[in-house]
Amino acid sequence: MSATIRNLDDLLAEGVSGRRVLVRADLNVPLDKQTGEITDDGRIRAVLPTLGALVSAGAKVVVCSHLGRPKGAPDPQFSLTPVAGRLGELLGAPVHFAADTVGESAQATVAALADGEVALLENLRFNKGETSKDDAERGAFADQLAALGDAYVDDAFGAVHRKHASVFDVPARLPHVAGRLVLREVEVLSTLTGSPERPYVVVLGGSKVSDKLAVIEALLPTVDRLLIGGGMCFTFLKAQGHEVGTSLLEKDMVDTCRNLLERGEGKIMLPVDVVAADAFAPDAAHDVVPADGIPSHRVGLDIGPETVAGFAAALRTGARTIFWNGPMGVFEMAAFAGGTRGVAEAIAESEAFSVVGGGDSAAAVRSLGLDEKSFGHISTGGGASLEYLEGKTLPGIAALEN
Ligand code: 3PG
Ligand code: MG
Repeated sequence: MSATIRNLDDLLAEGVSGRRVLVRADLNVPLDKQTGEITDDGRIRAVLPTLGALVSAGAKVVVCSHLGRPKGAPDPQFSLTPVAGRLGELLGAPVHFAADTVGESAQATVAALADGEVALLENLRFNKGETSKDDAERGAFADQLAALGDAYVDDAFGAVHRKHASVFDVPARLPHVAGRLVLREVEVLSTLTGSPERPYVVVLGGSKVSDKLAVIEALLPTVDRLLIGGGMCFTFLKAQGHEVGTSLLEKDMVDTCRNLLERGEGKIMLPVDVVAADAFAPDAAHDVVPADGIPSHRVGLDIGPETVAGFAAALRTGARTIFWNGPMGVFEMAAFAGGTRGVAEAIAESEAFSVVGGGDSAAAVRSLGLDEKSFGHISTGGGASLEYLEGKTLPGIAALEN
């Protein structure tokens, strides 16, 4: 990380005992739609090193985060209540939960904190100012938030690409440092944009080409191989002249994909077979079909076994550095999880230094029961890690530099 950015150790060296330290975390964890339970707590565990260090040093730790995309007003389905419970379990100490973000409850909760105790504020996005495009509106909210701390730690790597009050404006108002997670994420990702050991192989999946276009453009000149699966592969298959049935297709991106395929000649690997189903459903009838033979009434929901074998070979023996973002298929449905599992296993078995980027791919690694230790680094940031690799200025990082 840039030498001008101070980190948690600098703050700890100053002494934080009795000081209120406002920590921006990304506790935006997936919740079960039916039960509301946390289905993957990876992002909560990822901030424990920072929180633990502050607790041990006797700080009054005030944690804030967003969850989901509420529309600037309280919305119970996006409450951080379950996160407070889980955070307390993982810390081994109760977490005091404020029923609002900067209001009476937050102020009273923070005022009552003893040294070494932790409070969590309610969802930042229950306040319009958090995500406002209006600098004054964001600034006014940032003033209220900053009043709850004496120093600010950004450990929300998953949100550093957002120009939001808690990420961008609060650090302008308080002494600020990068937390352990942000530091580690940036260190790892900077090795990928610097001079990665070759061959450097990138695997991209997920549903939309349009989301990945900028990163493909940025990576194409630097990678040795680019493997493409997931919903976005169908727009590429269409660009190759194949019919894709009722699979996901971004019609307005076909020409762009054709152009990318020309420029990436010899580097881009596309599926040679796919799992095609009657419907988008866990129990839908399905078959493996060649990528150039998807029946017109069928929807491709995963890459096929021959593709997995080809991708796995490229990853297991053909790579020294790997970056993977985006599932290869609808891995939440067992019938269409084979591609994601196959790719994840090949990455785990590879000797290469591997980075898994993105909430979905990281959740896939854990939900498929793979050992996280077999991966070099599992990023907590999806959009953030992609924007970092694109070479964009990330508002949350830029704010720490000032
Ligand atoms: C994420 O999950 O992508 C991060 O938490 C950022 O959330 P956002 O995309 O809603 O800003
Ligand atoms: Mg996102």
